[in-house]
Amino acid sequence: MKSKTVKKLLSALLVTVLGASMLVGCGGNAGSAAGSKGEGKKAASGDTRVWRLAFNQTEDHPQYKVMKELSKEFYEATDGRYEIQLFPNETLGAQRETLEQVQSGVIEMSIVNNTHPGSVSDYFKAFDMPFLFDSIDEAVEFAKTSPVMEEIKDSTVQYGFHIATYLPAGTRSMFTAKTPIKSVADMKGLKIRTMESDIYVNMMDAFGGSATPMAMGEIYTAVQSGVVSGAENNEITYVNSKYYEVAPYWSQTNHLIVPDWLLISNDAYDSLSEEDRAVFDKLCAEAIDKVQTQWDSDVKALMDSLDTSKVTITKDVDIDSFKKAIEPVNQELINKNSNIKKVYDAVQEMKNK
Ligand code: GCU
Repeated sequence: MKSKTVKKLLSALLVTVLGASMLVGCGGNAGSAAGSKGEGKKAASGDTRVWRLAFNQTEDHPQYKVMKELSKEFYEATDGRYEIQLFPNETLGAQRETLEQVQSGVIEMSIVNNTHPGSVSDYFKAFDMPFLFDSIDEAVEFAKTSPVMEEIKDSTVQYGFHIATYLPAGTRSMFTAKTPIKSVADMKGLKIRTMESDIYVNMMDAFGGSATPMAMGEIYTAVQSGVVSGAENNEITYVNSKYYEVAPYWSQTNHLIVPDWLLISNDAYDSLSEEDRAVFDKLCAEAIDKVQTQWDSDVKALMDSLDTSKVTITKDVDIDSFKKAIEPVNQELINKNSNIKKVYDAVQEMKNK
């Protein structure tokens, strides 16, 4: 049996077992999750409600570190009424599957990239536009202050989940197996793995390559076996997931600043008392800056850890050539959808302030 099929079967089995463990009650540790109980505090009633949080990356990732802390703080602040258990490394499945599990209430929470809420609500697609933001600080500022954020968040409730918070996910660049990329001309003929959205397929076409969308867990083997010439992602994921082993050319194209989102099922969110919800909302809002701070402190060390005799880092990329190539595609998106335009206009308004 193919390893992908085995992985899918295992995660389906784990989800079934987890569902059963929730039926018999609260408080148990399930699967390979990391719980984050506070020290010595117990729920007043003796019951702890366990929420499962799916994550597709490693325990070293800044988002994982911050979620672990959030879980502990939430447990303590609710006197042990809630425990969030983290399931890293796609243990519960790839992001698309975990979104479906959240929607159907099989699990309570997941961290997914922007394309997934974007598959149900157009607002999110604005963040998929290359070069929308000029810096990660600008993107984070937008997430924290723009009045349009509430409207974006509210738009998913009808699809069974709430957006608990925006999570910064760095700046994405290209990495390839055989050749560096110095300008958009070098993209010709390259097959690049992208996240699963038509916007990225169009993006790669505009850059002169072609897109092969797939889930994250398949990237390493796809590059190694030559199914794709490379992929694009942020520095943390490039190093943590060891993509540099199969794609040793990192080219700093900085073409996308696209966020991840922490999702929570309507049932879980609606079950919170007013007081517990206020705690949860506060912790989630604080996670934005915490992830960014952790990111900033991890990213340089990780890139510096790469062996430069094996990995070629190209920093002097002609970024304007990428911007020029994508301009008409971005324009078409803005023109064709009023919700995308609304977000785009709000970003421009913030920039012009
Ligand atoms: C980033 C992002 C993930 C996403 C991944 C991908 O690492 O943070 O949420 O899954 O890219 O390219 O699939």
